[in-house]
Amino acid sequence: MEVPKFILVLLFAATFAWSRAQLEGMPSLKQGNSLKVEEESNFLVSPNGTFSSGFYKVGANASCYSIWFTNSADKTVVWMPNRDKPVSERRSKLTLHGNGNLVLTDALGSVVWSTNTISKEDMELQLLETGNLVLSNQDDRIIWQSFDSPTDTLLPSQPLTKNTTLVSMRGQGTYLSGFYNFKFDDNSILFLIYNGPLLSSVYWPQIVSTVFESGRNPYNSSRVAILDVAGQFISSDNMQFYASDYGVGPKRRLTMDYDGIVRLYSLDDSTGNWKLSWLPDGVDACLVQGLCGEYGICTYKPLPTCTCPSGFSLNDPQTGPKAAHLPSI
Ligand SMILES: *[C@@H]1O[C@H](CO)[C@@H](O)[C@H](O)[C@H]1NC(C)=O
Ligand SMILES: *[C@@H]1O[C@H](CO)[C@@H](O)[C@H](O)[C@H]1NC(C)=O
Ligand SMILES: *[C@@H]1O[C@H](CO)[C@@H](O)[C@H](O)[C@H]1NC(C)=O
Ligand SMILES: *[C@@H]1O[C@H](CO)[C@@H](O)[C@H](O)[C@H]1NC(C)=O
Repeated sequence: MEVPKFILVLLFAATFAWSRAQLEGMPSLKQGNSLKVEEESNFLVSPNGTFSSGFYKVGANASCYSIWFTNSADKTVVWMPNRDKPVSERRSKLTLHGNGNLVLTDALGSVVWSTNTISKEDMELQLLETGNLVLSNQDDRIIWQSFDSPTDTLLPSQPLTKNTTLVSMRGQGTYLSGFYNFKFDDNSILFLIYNGPLLSSVYWPQIVSTVFESGRNPYNSSRVAILDVAGQFISSDNMQFYASDYGVGPKRRLTMDYDGIVRLYSLDDSTGNWKLSWLPDGVDACLVQGLCGEYGICTYKPLPTCTCPSGFSLNDPQTGPKAAHLPSI
């Protein structure tokens, strides 16, 4: 029996409409409404689709509210307010209340994160094409924005200020907060610091060269840095660089990576993969605190390699330079 053509057309149209709905998500979240963790197609997208924002699976029955690059192969996350407090994949939701507060609750209804905003005016939540999630009123005045509280990534046009810090993830395959920070210090210099539970130490710019030798200016207290859409990074301390593929076009992100190095990446639209477009000069990988774990000895041969003092053995030989060292008894 032959299936009538019009049924095929209808089926095709229905499938197409459904997949479009899946892809398009919602343009904005209005007061009194929620994004629910179970409704996977229920997320916000930026006007041209570059970014998406919704619940992101981080483990078994564990989800974090996030913003990610829609078209990168691994759906790279750029913002995650509750990365250290994932919620379950049942009954968790993000709600924009009538009083103007945006609240993330878990399965039991406990508040995991909120913007602490209050407004008598009408507000809505939107994801802008820059990747900024904004809560704004009818006059488009921004009441709250995700750009003010970055996670480990800075996007073009998002300023890094004296109030903000990029904090690495703890390791590959986890979204938990790690110990490497990229921020301004009290002398208004942008620096990389390891801020661990036992010690904290600056590893870039290197202490051996003075701030002046590295071309930095400690006398501008405005403490603001920005990456523009063309790929130029400028900081009030004179730190400056250009993406190797400088020019408007590629989508980029500056990320404090879990290995302690801050890197600029550009998205290859044809493959969805990231390519490196800048990394800092003179980061001594052996000086990156914690690289070889406690008691580890780091040497170049020619890549940073971890060895143990005598009487100690590799905790986990598989993990190479990230291995922690413990005494072998
Ligand atoms: C969105 O896409 C349109 C059409 O391709 C383009 O003209 C516009 O510049 C884009 N806007 C942004 C912010 O990228
Ligand atoms: C996920 O966690 C929630 C809350 O703890 C629980 O109610 C639910 O049964 C869990 N679901 C699965 C599949 O484990
Ligand atoms: C930094 O935080 C202070 C206090 O919360 C605030 O008054 C100021 O506007 C913030 N500055 C920037 C550049 O965001
Ligand atoms: C300090 O830095 C800001 C931001 O980069 C810049 O606009 C300003 O001109 C600088 N001030 C001085 C005195 O260099």
